[in-house]
Amino acid sequence: MSVIDTIVEAVAPRENERTHQEARTKAKAVADSGDWLSLILEHHELIEAAFAAVKSAGAAPTRTAAQKVLAVLLTGHANAEESVIYPALTRVAGKGYATEAYSEQATAKTEMAALETLAPMSPEYLQKLEHIRDAVAHHVYQEESTWFLALKANASAPEQITLARRYKEEFDRYVGGDAESASTEVANPESSSENAEGITTQHRVPEPSERRELPLA
Ligand SMILES: [Fe+2]
Repeated sequence: MSVIDTIVEAVAPRENERTHQEARTKAKAVADSGDWLSLILEHHELIEAAFAAVKSAGAAPTRTAAQKVLAVLLTGHANAEESVIYPALTRVAGKGYATEAYSEQATAKTEMAALETLAPMSPEYLQKLEHIRDAVAHHVYQEESTWFLALKANASAPEQITLARRYKEEFDRYVGGDAESASTEVANPESSSENAEGITTQHRVPEPSERRELPLA
């Protein structure tokens, strides 16, 4: 974290855990079973558990495996929001929320790439991890307390159905259609296996020849 980041955080403290939980409870009350918002809330909780698994890992290989699970979940989730949810947010609430959302997720991707360059058991790694976790928590809070409530309240019923289908489609395209296995890995990072290139076999991105053809219409 830069000196400027530290000063900014000191004068503008983030919302606390209780505020986060209150926002989540409210968002869950607004979500319908199986809709786009309930899927996103599930994925937010999965991402939080993945951050905790990285932090609690006791050895470098375990931490590196947990970091890969976290990176896949974060990227799959961010890609789906950026392709489907934020454009819809722009339609119902203007560019303001979505512009901030895109910017924050771009920063998270940049910081996750920087994390990969650090020694996994070093203090610098843990400091960077905590900085990313805090930034993602703030981003999630904005989504759950304001941005997504606006989308839920203002999108038409047919659009809500399309958002759920398209969000899931984009998330599955990257994560591999099996968030349950990610859940298992978050709980037990040792369960993931790596190939010779160090890519987890459960969450690698399919080769172009392996990807299913999608209808164009
Ligand atoms: Fe999100």
